[in-house]
Amino acid sequence: MGTISLAQVDPRVASFLEKPRQMLINGKWVDAVSGKTFPTYDPSTGEVLATVAEGDRADIDLAVKAARKAFEGKWRKMSPSERGKLIWKLGDLIDAHVEEFAYLESLDNGKPLTIARAADVPLAAELFRYMAGWATKLEGNTIPLSVPYTPSAKYLSYTLREPVGVVGQIIPWNFPLLMAAWKLGPALATGCTVVLKPAEQTPLSALKLGELILEAGFPEGVVNIVPGYGETAGAALAAHMDVDKIAFTGSTEVGRLIVNAATGNLKRVSLELGGKSPNVVFKDADLDKAIPGAASAIFFNHGQCCCAGSRLYVEKSVFDQVVEGVADYAKKIKVGPGLDSATEMGPLVSLEQQNRVCSYLESGAAQGAKAAAGGHKVSGKGYFVEPTVLVDTRADMKVVQEEIFGPVVVAMPFSDPAELVPRANDNVYGLAAGIWTRDISKAHRMADQIAAGTVWINCYNIFDAALPFGGYKQSGWGREMGHEVLNNYTQTKAVCARI
Ligand code: NAI
Ligand code: MG
Repeated sequence: MGTISLAQVDPRVASFLEKPRQMLINGKWVDAVSGKTFPTYDPSTGEVLATVAEGDRADIDLAVKAARKAFEGKWRKMSPSERGKLIWKLGDLIDAHVEEFAYLESLDNGKPLTIARAADVPLAAELFRYMAGWATKLEGNTIPLSVPYTPSAKYLSYTLREPVGVVGQIIPWNFPLLMAAWKLGPALATGCTVVLKPAEQTPLSALKLGELILEAGFPEGVVNIVPGYGETAGAALAAHMDVDKIAFTGSTEVGRLIVNAATGNLKRVSLELGGKSPNVVFKDADLDKAIPGAASAIFFNHGQCCCAGSRLYVEKSVFDQVVEGVADYAKKIKVGPGLDSATEMGPLVSLEQQNRVCSYLESGAAQGAKAAAGGHKVSGKGYFVEPTVLVDTRADMKVVQEEIFGPVVVAMPFSDPAELVPRANDNVYGLAAGIWTRDISKAHRMADQIAAGTVWINCYNIFDAALPFGGYKQSGWGREMGHEVLNNYTQTKAVCARI
């Protein structure tokens, strides 16, 4: 697969990777209190890419103190319009640094440079610009009262939408910059201050973003960025008694730990967790679009998407044709290092993820599933796994029930559309779903019946800062993006005046 030397990388990126990266606390770049650092790896080679300050409880304490001071001080006093301008400026600064972000994202996460440049980075910039507009539009209501025990009194009553305060944000490694944007954008628009903990696998783009946050001119302490491990820095943030709210994206298992950790001070919690999303192809679909659509629904970002279309249900009369088409697509995907311009799919993010995905492949094979494409890891260095299509599965198999979070789809036929809805909904998750058909009433009827936070019709993986995203059932609490996400970061104050 060929190793890419840092000399081939943008020189600004090479110099960013050279020195150990510090953490951002109270507007300053600092080492960890313990002095410790940890490595982040290039998943296409398994080699160390950079070293980063390793935050833990003591650093989280300092960051929370800084965030509290900023919340009660300069940030609280700043006008919504000024806040909005800073957020907009951050979006523009991201645009001005697309190349650096794309390289860092590709090197740290493994995704193709071309994808990071075309999707991750511009979506992050857009998210900040969308949220910038909300800073000036967080309105309450005026409320007419009819209090029965004060019949002659008149009141003026209204609500205020106030920021919840100091927010802890814990994000994953699959879209490192974009997840930072999804979290920071609404928190800043609503006037909260933040302690952000990026994933230990991919801390670099969030740290680069920290530089731009300073450049944009946010007051010190408004955004603090503490890289470190989940069990230490993450757990300290989730349990912190002076954090008012935690926003988390990651595994359902850790989501439960976050909920438990939040009980100490009953902080607010929003969660964006796993998925095992059904993608349904009816025989009346435009198969020229549905086949590549079903393939990219699972293979985009190497299947490391919480909303990946990982359960493919295909109407029986077109099952063979669709499976063959998706398998063909899978076999042609060019797997390689993210920086190689020919690469269509990079490595998984870590050895741990490669092992996890491969153990699902083994479990599927042991339970009788057959691979119509792929089925193994790619030997050699780097954490590559073949794009895989599994058939001959049963509903009770682990590969059908559990989130694999890799490039593995299970394809299953259905004959009666009436039995489809219960099968599609037969899962603990409810994050997303896809429907491919030319029959518009069937499509909207299905959309009504599927238990999922997002339903895509004749498309998949379409994201926009204005479109809310989040889960039913065990896929989470609350929504990201759109104006819905502002509810995660505001609380309502009712004011009642006798006049
Ligand atoms: P994870 O849930 O452990 O990691 C996500 C974030 O949580 C990271 O920042 C991590 O440092 C932090 N974290 C871990 N343990 C913590 C704790 N005890 N307290 C506070 N924070 C903690 O996910 P992991 O282990 O990287 O991946 C495992 C599986 O999770 C994947 O195979 C996939 O199924 C799922 N996942 C889902 C994601 C999503 O987008 N919903 C993203 C990443 C993983
Ligand atoms: Mg974990």
